[in-house]
Amino acid sequence: MFRFVRWALGPFVVAGALSAIVTAARAQAPTQSLSAEQSVVGPAACGKCHKVETVIWQHTHHFASFRAMPRSPKAQQIGAKMGLSRLREASTICARCHFTSAVQNGQLQVITGVSCESCHGPGNGYIKIHSSFSGKTKATETAAERAERWRRSEAAGMIRPDMIYKIAKNCYGCHIVPQEKLVNVGGHAAGSPFEMVSWTQGEIRHNTWYTNGQSNPLAPPNIQRKMYVIGAAVELSESLRAVGKATQNATYAVTMARRAQAAAGRLQAINNALQLPETKAMMAAVATAHLNLNNGPQLNSVADRIDAAAQEFDRKYNGSQLGAIDRIIPGPQYYKGHPYPVGGQ
Ligand code: HEC
Ligand code: HEC
Ligand code: HEC
Ligand code: HEC
Repeated sequence: MFRFVRWALGPFVVAGALSAIVTAARAQAPTQSLSAEQSVVGPAACGKCHKVETVIWQHTHHFASFRAMPRSPKAQQIGAKMGLSRLREASTICARCHFTSAVQNGQLQVITGVSCESCHGPGNGYIKIHSSFSGKTKATETAAERAERWRRSEAAGMIRPDMIYKIAKNCYGCHIVPQEKLVNVGGHAAGSPFEMVSWTQGEIRHNTWYTNGQSNPLAPPNIQRKMYVIGAAVELSESLRAVGKATQNATYAVTMARRAQAAAGRLQAINNALQLPETKAMMAAVATAHLNLNNGPQLNSVADRIDAAAQEFDRKYNGSQLGAIDRIIPGPQYYKGHPYPVGGQ
């Protein structure tokens, strides 16, 4: 499949867990009249209604990072190598991935860690629309009105839980670190050994709204299947883009190339099981990738083809057609952490 280049297998190969990528985290965000940050309302505004989801979030690394990251010796070391003295500021390159920024008193400021709107989209445009039941109540809103309400919420930038492609793009937008200097000079990890199902179903899981906080069930099988396939596709496309930014034969290039190879292997197993037109198209695209240094344009065009197939896959299948991959979807022993217990769980 890939033409393996010599440096990818040479002395710079990084041992241990494969690390991670992406381009601008919110590259997929819809066009809005306000900039993304200007549209951020902050988690307290969501928490007025979403109390249980907020408590769970407050017990995640995403929340804790706001205080913990700038204080950690590792962060100060990275900061020093990158020429940064103050890390908890909206202007640093760290802010996009570790914090949420919003305009306060006319200035862009970091307000908290990775939060609701980092994953569900900046809230200003949809916060009223999505929660209004079209001016009626849950009981009296018609099905057509409900569909229109969700359509308008999405148009206003809301990323809903079943929009798997966009959610995956957001996760990988931070969990793969496509900054060569940050990795090679700063000594930052090239990303996380991230996989969609196992990383959403652990500490992050907050499926507590539609159960009134009484329980926090796993994502249903159909959703897990879609997460597994689309997550693998986005991991591949984003690691190819990250390789495309590599200019030096060093940790960054090698880690990203290994990640792309591993993601391609995972997708191959998925394609073997499913044999669907979209997974075949992904494999056909990756077969043309050249994992070379300074090869951005070629790798980006391969990544675009994979992304297009992943979006088509997201639109076309509701998951019920994907049972053939159930045996390779990671089970609970692989979940990353545990959600803060609610509802007596
Ligand atoms: C005024 C109360 C209120 C506020 C504030 C609020 N929500 Fe909601 N949210 C709701 C209601 C009500 C629903 C469920 C609507 C339904 O049942 O159709 C909901 C549903 C959701 C869903 C599930 C969507 C789906 O597809 O089922 C998400 C995600 C969500 N809200 C995120 C947020 C975020 C993020 C914020 C802050 C930017 C926020 N909400 C602020 C009331 C609110
Ligand atoms: C592209 C996204 C991205 C950028 C930019 C980024 N980080 Fe990170 N950072 C991450 C992710 C993802 C992790 C978790 C890695 C893992 O799973 O091990 C992380 C982990 C860390 C850790 C180890 C965990 C901790 O909180 O102690 C430190 C320290 C850190 N980052 C500091 C920084 C600093 C300082 C900067 C800016 C100079 C920065 N990061 C920029 C995404 C990013
Ligand atoms: C790391 C990304 C991320 C963050 C941060 C996040 N969410 Fe979510 N949210 C998701 C994902 C992914 C799902 C669907 C999970 C699943 O299917 O297992 C979801 C589901 C939901 C749902 C539907 C719950 C249900 O019962 O089905 C609501 C409501 C929601 N989120 C609101 C919030 C609010 C409010 C916050 C902030 C306090 C928040 N989310 C923070 C990613 C995130
Ligand atoms: C805005 C950037 C950003 C987004 C979007 C994001 N993350 Fe993270 N995530 C981070 C950073 C940074 C860390 C490391 C925090 C720390 O430990 O300091 C992290 C840590 C985590 C951890 C804890 C890892 C551990 O070491 O235990 C999990 C689990 C996780 N993220 C899952 C997700 C999932 C699932 C999504 C998408 C639904 C997601 N993240 C989206 C930036 C992000």
